[in-house]
Amino acid sequence: MRDKPFTILGIETSCDETAASVVRGRIPGPGEILSNIVFSQTEAHAPYGGVVPEIASRAHLEILDGVIERALDEAKITLQELDGIAATAGPGLIGGVMVGLTTAKALALCAGKPLLAVNHLMGHALTARLTHGVEFPFLLLLVSGGHCQLLGVGGVDDFRLYGSTIDDAVGEAFDKTAKILGLPYPGGPAVEEAARSGNPKAYDLPRPLLFKNKQDRAGADFSFSGLKTALRQLAQDRRVSVADASASFQAAVIDILRDRSRFAMGLFRADFPDANTMVVAGGVAANQAIGAALAQLCGSEDFILRAPPPKLCTDNAAMIAWAGAERLAAGANGDDLSISPRARWPLAVR
Ligand code: KG4
Ligand code: ZN
Repeated sequence: MRDKPFTILGIETSCDETAASVVRGRIPGPGEILSNIVFSQTEAHAPYGGVVPEIASRAHLEILDGVIERALDEAKITLQELDGIAATAGPGLIGGVMVGLTTAKALALCAGKPLLAVNHLMGHALTARLTHGVEFPFLLLLVSGGHCQLLGVGGVDDFRLYGSTIDDAVGEAFDKTAKILGLPYPGGPAVEEAARSGNPKAYDLPRPLLFKNKQDRAGADFSFSGLKTALRQLAQDRRVSVADASASFQAAVIDILRDRSRFAMGLFRADFPDANTMVVAGGVAANQAIGAALAQLCGSEDFILRAPPPKLCTDNAAMIAWAGAERLAAGANGDDLSISPRARWPLAVR
């Protein structure tokens, strides 16, 4: 076991955040975030109501060098003092991933440091170790703009898929709902804000795939497209209150997440009988109403809930640096510079 903490530069460019961060720490954490620079391209994409891949990759290319420089400056760390350079290698928008990974390769080559090609989802998944030092194993609800999954995490290389969405990701459902209701992009925070003053029982929206059969492994799968369609229909048929529609939508999402999480707790307990930690991660985990509902569920099912602070739930590079440290600690020597970026890269398959 190595005594000295790892100091890692992380780079994140898989969607519309250009981010760099320096993190220091020992496994299992918590680690120390020496700098965490996140440049959000929200304004550039806002007129289109979603992320435009070409705009994103060009913006990453223009500003990434400066973002990395700031991250190193703020951390007061030189390239030579690093133990490794970690970058998101997928999944994500391929143009953006290419920009970040290529930059990391160049820096690794120049500085003679190991390159750590990180799975973005692993970054989200292990953030609670960076922030809380959560020990393996834990049950993970990963809810972001591109993903909605329940996983058992037994170690850095041990991800067991219990359930995933069969159509939209939950963040995507928030974003589409915002668009239907005329709320600004990104939709998640806007819908949450509007929901605060709305009545969650105002509209009766569907809760697709609520399973009763405990033997059915699909019992931890999600579906959000029916909910979105019902909302669109409602908004077409009559004048809806944006606050009430937001609150009703969020209430339906909460019911779905609660039901599937409860189901996955059973699968997790069968795999790891002595464990009782649940972690929620990804951009949607920034939602306070969802967090409160999960905390209540964990309380009643004898689980402890760990949720990173909102700033580390949405895309950032500290989580990528931390995942790099985890890989080094687990014995990785660094990836070959010929490694390719991947648009798709599941953490686990059933
Ligand atoms: O993890 P993330 O930053 O990027 C991806 O890897 O996808 O997640 C972004 C997603 C977006 O869909 C955004 O609308 C959603 O997370 N989100 C939220 C909230 N904040 C961000 N959804 C619900 N409530 C929020 N407060
Ligand atoms: Zn993400």
